[in-house]
Amino acid sequence: MADHPLPPPRILTHPSSTAPQLITQGAEGLLYRTSYLQPSLPAALKYRPSKPYRHPILDARLTRQRILAEARILAKCRREGVVVPSVYCVDEAAGWLLMEWIEGLPVRVVVNKWLGSKSEEQVLTAEANGRLVDLLKRVGAAVGRLHAAGVVHGDLTTSNMMLRPAPPAVEPQQHGDESLQREDTDGSIVIIDFGLASQGTHEEDRAVDLYVLERAFLSTHPRTEKLFSQVLEGYKTTFKAATQVLRKLEDVRMRGRKRSMLG
Ligand SMILES: Nc1ncnc2c1ncn2[C@@H]1O[C@H](COP(=O)(O)OP(=O)(O)O)[C@@H](O)[C@H]1O
Ligand SMILES: [Mg+2]
Repeated sequence: MADHPLPPPRILTHPSSTAPQLITQGAEGLLYRTSYLQPSLPAALKYRPSKPYRHPILDARLTRQRILAEARILAKCRREGVVVPSVYCVDEAAGWLLMEWIEGLPVRVVVNKWLGSKSEEQVLTAEANGRLVDLLKRVGAAVGRLHAAGVVHGDLTTSNMMLRPAPPAVEPQQHGDESLQREDTDGSIVIIDFGLASQGTHEEDRAVDLYVLERAFLSTHPRTEKLFSQVLEGYKTTFKAATQVLRKLEDVRMRGRKRSMLG
């Protein structure tokens, strides 16, 4: 495959998998949509190709450790009941991890779609922003569950969360199409990308997680300054120790401001 500096892992060309489709190419790795065991079961393949500029032994060790760390954290989240993609299969030596494919759109896309169709005032009027407020609360609630499970994400952004639509209702169509119409903002939040995650229960690390999300949120979604607090409201609903973390968040913000004043 032309995208690869080195031969791709064999799973990408394995006859049982659907022709893999490259979804994103990040700094650390590539993400493909493929299938697992049967063509009807879509799967996400995260592949970290080796970096030719690194020392080969060091490179192999790093890749192995990172893939395993990500798979372990995903497994831990599942055990603790946090909704994340389930791990199907790992080949840490070859540098890949195969997991459940999450349908839906990244929250970044959903929020920007929503913002795109609204005026400045509409973004702030209660009636218009009700749906967004609700979505932001679900985002915060998902982060709260993650923290309650003892996991710190390390890279919380709206690109690292998917909004998975609810499965179609099975009720008969007696009320016509209207009652079945889904809003773009409906669905459940699934946090993804645990490449920088760690296990931990320090308030400080949790506060930094929230701070990273806040910064990412405001830079990705302008005009939402007044709405970010809804994420924190949602966070409080699922995480008992939220108050202490939010207090720490004040300190982290303060440090952030000082840092940016210094340039
Ligand atoms: N399990 C998954 N299901 C569906 N899409 C995914 C899945 N994992 C990742 N993606 C998509 O691929 C993108 C990159 O994956 P991610 O794990 O965030 O890797 P990176 O480290 O490159 O940011 C995500 O932003 C998302 O759009
Ligand atoms: Mg990512």
